[in-house]
Amino acid sequence: MAKQITSDPQYSSDSELKLKSTFQLRCIDCGAVGGTPTRNLRCPACGDLLEVVYPGWSSADGHASEFSAPDLKALWKQRRTSRLPLDESGVWRFREVLPSLREENDVITLREGNTPLYSMPQCAAKAGMDSLFAKHQGMNPTGSFKDTGMTMAASVARQDGFRWVACASTGNTSASMAAYASRGGMRSLVLIPDGQISWSKLAQALDYGAITCQLKTDFDGCMKILNEVVLHVPVYLLNSINPYRVEGQKTAAIELLEQLNWEPPDHVIVPGGNLANSSALGKAFLEMKELGFIPTLPRISIIQAEGANPLVRTIRENRGQKLIPVRAETMATAIRIGTPASWKKAVRVLEATGGTVEQVSEAEIALAKAEIGAEGIGCEPASAVTLAGLKKLVMQGFVKRRETVVLILTGHLLKDPDFTLKFHRGDLFPGSVHEKDAALVAQQRAPVVLEASADAVIKILERSQDE
Ligand code: F0G
Repeated sequence: MAKQITSDPQYSSDSELKLKSTFQLRCIDCGAVGGTPTRNLRCPACGDLLEVVYPGWSSADGHASEFSAPDLKALWKQRRTSRLPLDESGVWRFREVLPSLREENDVITLREGNTPLYSMPQCAAKAGMDSLFAKHQGMNPTGSFKDTGMTMAASVARQDGFRWVACASTGNTSASMAAYASRGGMRSLVLIPDGQISWSKLAQALDYGAITCQLKTDFDGCMKILNEVVLHVPVYLLNSINPYRVEGQKTAAIELLEQLNWEPPDHVIVPGGNLANSSALGKAFLEMKELGFIPTLPRISIIQAEGANPLVRTIRENRGQKLIPVRAETMATAIRIGTPASWKKAVRVLEATGGTVEQVSEAEIALAKAEIGAEGIGCEPASAVTLAGLKKLVMQGFVKRRETVVLILTGHLLKDPDFTLKFHRGDLFPGSVHEKDAALVAQQRAPVVLEASADAVIKILERSQDE
């Protein structure tokens, strides 16, 4: 079964830029390195989460070693013209700052990453900003940011001889894992909360060939059961506590910096669920600064739904000392998580970058989602918390009108068509105080059923002229 998952410094296809990507797994709490992780991928000494560290990056006096940032920037850019599968991937393009695999052929890639950075002028105006950017991670092969981490961690699973991989999920991880497992010739097991994930995400897992179990519990319950399952059977855990997932997801931040000509933004705003993505992006910015790619850090702020706000409560009520779990409830089902596994990593990123946390209501999420859609961009509800949160951060003065802000949109509009249809038909908040909310109504575009005649269509057009 599992071979030990440790470092392998051999891999580099560019001999003139052979960089030491020797890496280790280190416990985020007790700092232990080099031990074999437990089957649920935790520190064998204390049971906390592991992270990938690169001892070769720092010289004895603590300064970054001969890492030539200008050379790497040029190399990474040049790879965009290459037809090699590894170079076509927006993750493996940055392989010098990622864990190395033994063989290039071990990589499972669907050409993930390389996602667009859009300017969002209308949303900027709604939020009271001069300008605004959105990095759309929903433009990945399976429609969410999960693919960037999955290419890395699924490749490690296959390299280490696993035949089965598994995850608990609110939908996107399972879709992504199922796809990468099948591409890599592995089987996959998905545990999802019954009735609490969108149909399109469930459909993806089925079509990509996963064994899919809908458990009569919530996401946190699914996670608990999976942690038990992996103790008894040789399946590799691909949830985001997997430190290799975090390394792959890190590349979105590197790619963002490249898109901004290596001028770091003032703020990056991320949705918070299990809290791995915010941790991954923060890790990348910190590493890029340490290695001399950027002079300053963006502030990373994390936004949660009011009904699924364990991090917000943890920061506000005990300054991040001890997690306050909640019973999660939100229509943004991707982030319906009450006990986030990576909370400690996220707290460290908030502290290291000077970011903040905020929570937003269901109506604020729905409105922001429609506003992002009206730019011709679109996203799933969980991603829209970023714009809703930004509006609050601007009002509070934490974000200033002229600053550069990037929203991380994590999932594609088509991930949750039910939510979108209900919103535009006015069925999302039936009988609630939000039903007649003018801002919401102004964004609704319900489809109209007409007699099949040109006249009927023309009348609708005339009526819509002044909108
Ligand atoms: N946005 C979307 C679209 C997601 O699917 C998730 C998480 C998040 C944001 C939050 O990211 O967990 O790293 O803080 N989805 C997981 C899943 C939990 O199973 O698909 P996070």
